[in-house]
Amino acid sequence: MADAKPTLPAPLVEALRRVRSAGVITGAGVSAESGVPTYRGKGGLYEEDESRIEALTGTTLRSDPDRTWRAVGDLARHAAGAVPNAAHFAIAEIERKVARFVLLTQNVDGLHQAAGSRNVIDIHGSITRTRCMACGAEGELSREELEAIHAAPRCAGCGGTLRPAAVLFGEMLPVEKVARMQRELLDDPPELVLVVGTSALFPYIVEPVLVARRARRLTVEVNPEPTVLSPVVGWFLEGSAAALVPEIAREIG
Ligand code: OAD
Repeated sequence: MADAKPTLPAPLVEALRRVRSAGVITGAGVSAESGVPTYRGKGGLYEEDESRIEALTGTTLRSDPDRTWRAVGDLARHAAGAVPNAAHFAIAEIERKVARFVLLTQNVDGLHQAAGSRNVIDIHGSITRTRCMACGAEGELSREELEAIHAAPRCAGCGGTLRPAAVLFGEMLPVEKVARMQRELLDDPPELVLVVGTSALFPYIVEPVLVARRARRLTVEVNPEPTVLSPVVGWFLEGSAAALVPEIAREIG
């Protein structure tokens, strides 16, 4: 069957037209149609190989950094050649249409930034940025370098072991980004909170949606599968990010 354009419910369209501020929250599902595998669910990286989770912990980084970097290299190899899809571009378009905007993403693939999103809280950091565990020097690896990685890279300055500037399992979230989340999403929730392509397993992803709902903001979820948030949001739209988010963006403002 040819893909018919999804139609949004009329009351949702009406509400979207009044929106002047928006917060978007994304997870791996927003990049699925760019060919980047998700972590969980069908074809998910953790389903395929559960030991990846252990490799991506702070504990493994300290005891066996080569193993952590092999897993990071693996993530990069799975995302190799990926470019933003219609959902990433539509989220950047929402930012241009409203007076106040914030994007909270768990993704480390950089595709939102490549699509033109500007006010991004990349709460899990980036796998292309590095920090030396000995001297603290910060650096950047090219996508090609990252895709070729099979062992921990070394600091050009002091020879120490580098770590990815990403949050690994069991590690704290960066304080400054948590403060931005508090300010931009929780203190005065945007008129629209749109959550796309995340299994919403972490409390800091669920909370902004609960807070927005309690404050009677417009809350919308896009996901082909229901999540813990689906019964909570005002509108659960069952379907893919690339099909539905452009429709939402079109109606805003
Ligand atoms: P998950 O892999 O847990 O969940 C992906 C979600 O995307 C699921 O709910 C899918 O149903 C949905 N999905 C799949 N295809 C989709 C599509 N085409 N359009 C929309 N949604 C789609 O990914 P996250 O929720 O991002 O952490 O996982 C959270 C964190 O767990 C990740 O950031 C990562 C991982 O460990 C770190 O790397 C620190």
